[in-house]
Amino acid sequence: MTNPEKHDGPLSGSNGSQEVWHGDATDKVSTESSRAVAAVRAVDAEDATLDFAEPLAAWLAGDDWVTRIRHLKEMTDQYGKGLISDVTSRCIAIDQAVLDACQAGADITQVVLLGAGMDTRPYRLDLPHVAWFEVDVPAISHLKRQRIAQVPAHLRPHTVVRTRRLEQVSLDLAASLDQLRPMLMARGFDMHAPVLYILEGLVYYLSTPENRDLFNQLPAAPGSQALVTCIPAALKAYVNDPAVQERVPRFRVIAPSWKTDLETFRETLGDRWRITDEVNLFDHAERNGRRLARDPEMDREPRTVAESYLVLKAC
Ligand SMILES: C[S@@+](CC[C@H](N)C(=O)[O-])C[C@H]1O[C@@H](n2cnc3c(N)ncnc32)[C@H](O)[C@@H]1O
Repeated sequence: MTNPEKHDGPLSGSNGSQEVWHGDATDKVSTESSRAVAAVRAVDAEDATLDFAEPLAAWLAGDDWVTRIRHLKEMTDQYGKGLISDVTSRCIAIDQAVLDACQAGADITQVVLLGAGMDTRPYRLDLPHVAWFEVDVPAISHLKRQRIAQVPAHLRPHTVVRTRRLEQVSLDLAASLDQLRPMLMARGFDMHAPVLYILEGLVYYLSTPENRDLFNQLPAAPGSQALVTCIPAALKAYVNDPAVQERVPRFRVIAPSWKTDLETFRETLGDRWRITDEVNLFDHAERNGRRLARDPEMDREPRTVAESYLVLKAC
C-alpha cells in the first residue's frame, strides 16, 4: 500500500542527526525523501522473517530516520510481522527487473540510475559486466559519498562495488539537463550501446515539461530500456485534498513536491519511448505472496493509490 509518510515524501520536523542541507528547499526535499525511503527499506530488512537484505540502508538513512520509521511500524503493530512497505515492494520489483534486463549475455551492459538517492544496488546486485552510473543533485551525491567513505568497519564489506564500475554524476536534472550527456560521456558512458535507465521514485518530483525534456534528451541507442515508477493521480489528489490534509497535516508537506502523476506522465513521453509493460505494485506484491504494511491514516483501497512501474523501450 502506498504510504506517503513511509513513502517518498519529505517530512517537516525531522530534526536530523545529519545536518546536511543549507537552507535550499530542493536540497532539503531531496535529502529527506532519499533518506526516508532508505530508512523504510532498512526497517523492513530488520524483519528476520523476510527474505530482504539492505545492509547499508540504515547507515545511509541515518539514525533519526530509522528510529522514526521503526517507531511508526511499532505503533501500528506491524513491526516484525512479515509485512513490507510499498517502498520495499518497489525495490524488490525493480531489483528483479534490473537483473532480468542485464543478465549475462544480454545486450545491456550499462545502467543509469536517475535520482539515485541512497540506492545500494551496485553494492547488492552481482552485475560484474555492467557499468553503473548514478545521477542525483549535488547535495545528495555529496552526502552519499561522505556516508560511504565514513562507513563503520562492520559494514565495510558491504561497500564493495559488485558492478564493473560505479560512477557518480552530480547534476540537477531539472536545472542542468543539457549537462547530462557530456557528464555521462566524460565518465565512460557509451552513447552507441543500449542502456537501462532506472527512475525509481523520481518522475513525480519533476514537472510535465521537465519529464518531457528528460525523455526527449536521454541518450537511447537501439535496445535501450527504462524502468519508471510513478504515483497514480488518485494518490496525488488524495494528499492535495484539504479535508484530508486537515486530518493528516503531514500531507501538506508532501503535496507540493509531487508534481506529476502516472496518467500525466504517460502523456509526456513523446515518440522516442513506448510503454511495453505496466505493473501496479500492490498487484505485484500480492502475486509474489508478499503482504504489504498498511497506513492506518489512509482510507482508500490500497490498490487504487499504489505506485506502478512502467517498462519503456526506446523506439
Ligand atoms: C524519493 S527519492 C528516491 C531515491 C531512490 N531512487 C530510491 O528509490 O531510494 C527521490 C530522489 O530523486 C532525486 N531528485 C529529485 N529531483 C531531482 C532532480 N531535479 N535532479 C536529480 N535528482 C533529483 C532526489 O534527490 C532523491 O534522491
